[in-house]
Amino acid sequence: MPIFSDASRHTVLVLELFPETAAIDQGELVLGGVRATALAEEFGTPLVVYCERTLLAQAREYQRVDPEALVVYGTKAFANVALLQLFAREGLGADVSTLGELRFALRADVPSDRIVFHGNNKSDEELRAAARAGATVVLDAPDEVERASNAGVERVLVRLTPGVEAETHESIQTAHSESKFGLDPDQALATVAAARGRLDAAGVHVHIGSQLARIDESLAAVDRLVEFCTRCRDQLGWSPRIVDLGGGLGVRHARADQLPTVAEFAGALVTRFREGWNEPARLILEPGRSLIGRAGVTLYRVGATKRSGSIDYVAIDGGMSDNPRPQLYGARYEALIANKAEERVDGTYRIAGKHCESGDVLIDAVELPRPRGGDLLAVPATGAYTLSMASNYNGVPRPAAVIVADGNARLIRRRETVDDLLRYETS
Ligand code: LLP
Repeated sequence: MPIFSDASRHTVLVLELFPETAAIDQGELVLGGVRATALAEEFGTPLVVYCERTLLAQAREYQRVDPEALVVYGTKAFANVALLQLFAREGLGADVSTLGELRFALRADVPSDRIVFHGNNKSDEELRAAARAGATVVLDAPDEVERASNAGVERVLVRLTPGVEAETHESIQTAHSESKFGLDPDQALATVAAARGRLDAAGVHVHIGSQLARIDESLAAVDRLVEFCTRCRDQLGWSPRIVDLGGGLGVRHARADQLPTVAEFAGALVTRFREGWNEPARLILEPGRSLIGRAGVTLYRVGATKRSGSIDYVAIDGGMSDNPRPQLYGARYEALIANKAEERVDGTYRIAGKHCESGDVLIDAVELPRPRGGDLLAVPATGAYTLSMASNYNGVPRPAAVIVADGNARLIRRRETVDDLLRYETS
């Protein structure tokens, strides 16, 4: 039974997951002043549509938390030059974790003093590239002191593993005591000591996980960070001048999700740190998902529809190759039909992708007005970790992305073609 029998109520509730400019006009979804149907026609589907106003609003909300702090965009959420440029113009930097992400940041002209280079297994080539770029490198293993120094790196932070198990999918926890990331307090202390001899040991870093909905765990991590800073001061006579509090704030994918705002989450962390540590230190914040997740909507064209047992299947022209998050993390999304956004909900549908396996289900159950072939399905809150984790499974080219604002759309990632894929073939 549909929960929302009143069609307009359904629309309003679903729209709250969409970007700030989302509206319904004559029964059609409009994003940034452009009809979703027009976007699909011009750019094809699947298509990831980013709302510029939402991107800017999120960036500015982060900057308001502490105007002195450096906010770096977690490039892994979607490595895209246009997004990096947009954020750089707002004063943000980039958190990169591979040579590839660094190249994206450099192409976007992100200033070197706003690039933070992460990674639990940086190659010498990556360390040299980070050094040439003048990036701040986050040391993640004891032997990186020598390797970073040999590579010509100057400024480093040391990544502390505070031993906090965040409530999120286990694949995206990063600060529990057996994490592959960072160093426990004893090792981190020894690494700070070793780094001081050879490098500019500028500070410390902590990041406890992703898609976080709770604040208390992050506050516990900040407390451990403060304890660590105190130990460093007492035992080494060293205090950090840069403290990177990481990212991790989640976004709502479904109406049932409850999440703190940027101001609530990041504000609480900054306050806690300042209360615990009264020496001067510049803060870095490293959000990825919460900057771009809600800004992005994926549009799919509906193809085959059929009933199988008790399930009403609706197949779309994408799936696990453009958004593997349901398979990887059990992520749950909602959707509406962009070209009939105000029609009455008539049932519960399973949205299946086009890939050759039964697990390729984007949404297990969503209430919609009956979808028909040719309709346009809009899935909100898909701006982060979708295209960045897209694959070519089944020889499917990866989708395009656009930015919309004030009635205009601009292509920011062109659609891949099968010819692109064939170019890698050697026979
Ligand atoms: N800083 C560091 C050191 C990180 O490892 C990450 C994310 C971030 C910042 C940004 O975190 P965010 O604010 O986006 O949560 N593919 C997964 C997410 C992996 C996150 C990896 N690290 C997903 O789709 O949920």
